[in-house]
Amino acid sequence: MIEAGDNNSADLCAVAPMGLLAELTHRCPLQCPYCSNPTELERASGELSTEEWARVFKEAGELGILQTHLSGGEPTVRKDLEEILKAAVDAGIYTNLITAGVLLSKERLTGLKDLGLDHVQLSVQHVDAQLADKIAGFKGGYSKKIQLAEWVKELDLPLTVNSPMHRHNVEYLEEIIEFALKLGAERLEVAHIQYYGWAFENRHTLIPTKEQVYRNADIVDEARERLKGVMSIDFVVPDYYAVRPKPCMGGWGSSFMTISPTGKVLPCHAAASIKGLEFENVKDRHLRDIWLHSSSFNKYRGTDYLPEPCKSCEFKEVDFGGCRCQAFMFTGDATNTDPACSKSSYHKELLEIAERESKLAPKEFLYRKFTKQHQPAE
Ligand code: FES
Repeated sequence: MIEAGDNNSADLCAVAPMGLLAELTHRCPLQCPYCSNPTELERASGELSTEEWARVFKEAGELGILQTHLSGGEPTVRKDLEEILKAAVDAGIYTNLITAGVLLSKERLTGLKDLGLDHVQLSVQHVDAQLADKIAGFKGGYSKKIQLAEWVKELDLPLTVNSPMHRHNVEYLEEIIEFALKLGAERLEVAHIQYYGWAFENRHTLIPTKEQVYRNADIVDEARERLKGVMSIDFVVPDYYAVRPKPCMGGWGSSFMTISPTGKVLPCHAAASIKGLEFENVKDRHLRDIWLHSSSFNKYRGTDYLPEPCKSCEFKEVDFGGCRCQAFMFTGDATNTDPACSKSSYHKELLEIAERESKLAPKEFLYRKFTKQHQPAE
């Protein structure tokens, strides 16, 4: 548990989070079947107001947060995005706009840059226009993304391309790397889907084979070497094929927080999937107090709560036992070792599921919607 003198800025700095994921809305014109939003989406009627977001960013600046990811849903559906961005900029926070890129005009993007926007992250579903639009469940999205990337470069803003990987695009990684280069990205995230929330619901049709993932790793190694100094590439493997768990969120409650559209403050974007956790709201309490003292942040902070095999593991301060959400989803107890770890007694079962489902014929997508509904995948 964190103990810090709340009014002592030196103490606070030592334990302050670095990043804030601001989910400004869950509304989005795209319907990607692996969306990281919860399956119970929050409605527009409950969203924080402009003034409430402005206060959040003021408090975030006071708390010592250095960067924010303005995300959603699609953050540009908010008509007050400019005022929200300005509040983050005024608080001295580095701003990254995470967008699907299908709603922004050049004028609006220029205005955002003039207000102090630092960085744009654009999602790319596929290099084939038809398949890209199919995966996103949005016609015409592909060409709009290319247009947006051109404007981002004309305005001299740094660009990250994020390409979530799954069975429907895993064989196109070389083309995706070339596509990101053409768009002018300085950074490419090749992030294999993690199977929580919407992706968990669609796991049977999204999960690639182990061979495909390993081949991707080789492609990334080669491209990293070839593109040194031109474009950096981040690569995330799916937990199901990992041997060691990832240090999810850099450790629970250690460097990151998420705020949902209605103001819930979460230790990670999927934390609401852990039954029994209660989350405080920015409407009721200062962000600093929530970070330091809320039960949801303190429950899995550090490593003291971890049972065996984590308790005596030499890597426990490296990976913190992995992901709490995945531990809960798979074992029913969030304190357990993440089954992605080869030392977990559930690990074998996790791998067997992946190997079996990756060989099944693709089925319909359950598209991300306010009301769940299956649609044909091909
Ligand atoms: Fe919640 Fe990993 S996604 S801790």
